[in-house]
Amino acid sequence: MYRSAVYDEPLLNELVSSKKEKIKPLGILPDSLKRNEKIDIPDIDETQVVRHFHHLSQMNYGIDSGIYPLGSCTMKYNPKICGEIASWDGFAGTNPYQDVSTIQGNLQVMFELERMLCEITGMDYFSLQPAAGAQGEFLGMLLTRAYHEFNKDFERNEIILPDTSHGTNPASAAMAGYKLVEIPSTKEGTVDLDVLEKTLSEKTACFMLTNPNTLGIFESEILEISKLVHDTGALLYYDGANMNAIMGKAKPGDMGFDIVHLNLHKTFATPHGGGGPGSGPVGVKMKLEKFLPVPRVCKNKKDYFFDYKAPESIGKIKGHYGNFSVLLKAYVYILMMGRDGLRESSEIAVLNSNYMKKKLLDSGRYELPYKELRKHEFVLSCEKLKQEKNVRALDVAKRLLDYGFHPPTIYFPLIVKEALMIEPTESESKEDLDRYVDALIKIADEKPEIVKNAPNNTPVNRVDDVGATKKPILTWNMI
Ligand SMILES: Cc1ncc(COP(=O)(O)O)c(C=O)c1O
Repeated sequence: MYRSAVYDEPLLNELVSSKKEKIKPLGILPDSLKRNEKIDIPDIDETQVVRHFHHLSQMNYGIDSGIYPLGSCTMKYNPKICGEIASWDGFAGTNPYQDVSTIQGNLQVMFELERMLCEITGMDYFSLQPAAGAQGEFLGMLLTRAYHEFNKDFERNEIILPDTSHGTNPASAAMAGYKLVEIPSTKEGTVDLDVLEKTLSEKTACFMLTNPNTLGIFESEILEISKLVHDTGALLYYDGANMNAIMGKAKPGDMGFDIVHLNLHKTFATPHGGGGPGSGPVGVKMKLEKFLPVPRVCKNKKDYFFDYKAPESIGKIKGHYGNFSVLLKAYVYILMMGRDGLRESSEIAVLNSNYMKKKLLDSGRYELPYKELRKHEFVLSCEKLKQEKNVRALDVAKRLLDYGFHPPTIYFPLIVKEALMIEPTESESKEDLDRYVDALIKIADEKPEIVKNAPNNTPVNRVDDVGATKKPILTWNMI
């Protein structure tokens, strides 16, 4: 815990004990700790200070500043009421070490949120503990292991993933000690059933998939995929980062998935740019319930309580009970939106994405490899621009900064050359979508020198990343 040196007498005594100096009462610094030289800061008035910090705050770009169509990241608007409620003393002032009788409201929020997420995904139980999607995946892999070991199925040491999968999927599986087996997608950009069937074996522990996949394409053969996977005794894992496309329309539980993680910091409003706190709850089907982390949030006739009694549980995945403020914002968001609201937001997200995709394709400046039918995001290729003008996806992204826009995700998924992955979300107006499309079209028509040197109007211009790699300036060398 933070202790103020000025007001904390024992701490002061500790600091100067080597000098055998007696500390004076509160608020008075001993001479040995006082600065003798003048501090080198400008002598300016309050207005200038306020303007300086206000200006600095304006140099940030967030979802409140403008469109942020970072594909795969669902950077959508977080209604202010969600943050407002999370900041209420009754919530923000609580502490995980408090007696449960004093935090019944918090437990109620968690208990009800679990039920809501079950309803949205079609799963039977949820754990709210993981602090990010990747941690949810890792938990999913631990659950997979626990499940197979419980069934004395010790030979299953492989996880299958499509070549479109997000980097955290193989990373989480590898962290859990699994061998990775990547399978190529069809020319349509979806799972190749023949290849999957040949790859599945008595060694397969799980197949990890997101639906719609990272190209924004819905895996319409998901029931066949599920059958193939289950027939070999393996589990099917759902990466829920793309849930924004199907909320209220389809449930991963109905598609046959056994384990699901959601990214509350994407689909359920909390924007997560800059690495802010996240939440990656994991939902499971009944057969995996007993392996979920402890404690579970339970309710008897009148009270909520934490239940630690779960002998088969994998244990804890994170300290305490998850990132409570993100859970709370998701809870408020879901209550506010309701069943119809969530469905409508997915519909608008998909509509916005297809509107942009159509305009950009019609412009003839960019290409769209793989199937045209997309959900909430689409992945364009700048390969033609690269061939014709030596302008790459990176250059286009940097130039967007000059137009005052946040760039999309680039170079992912890996199977698209010079990828621009755009996810506009339901939060954007038609005017903003049009402005973004116009900027992308203009950039494609600009002289290559302008685009390749961008950004020109930002406080920091093009970073020499090759130079930085070859000659890194390390901070500990500068001290
Ligand atoms: C498809 C997909 N899966 C998993 C993740 C991992 O989520 P997190 O960043 O919360 O760890 C992401 C993150 O962008 C993602 O896009």
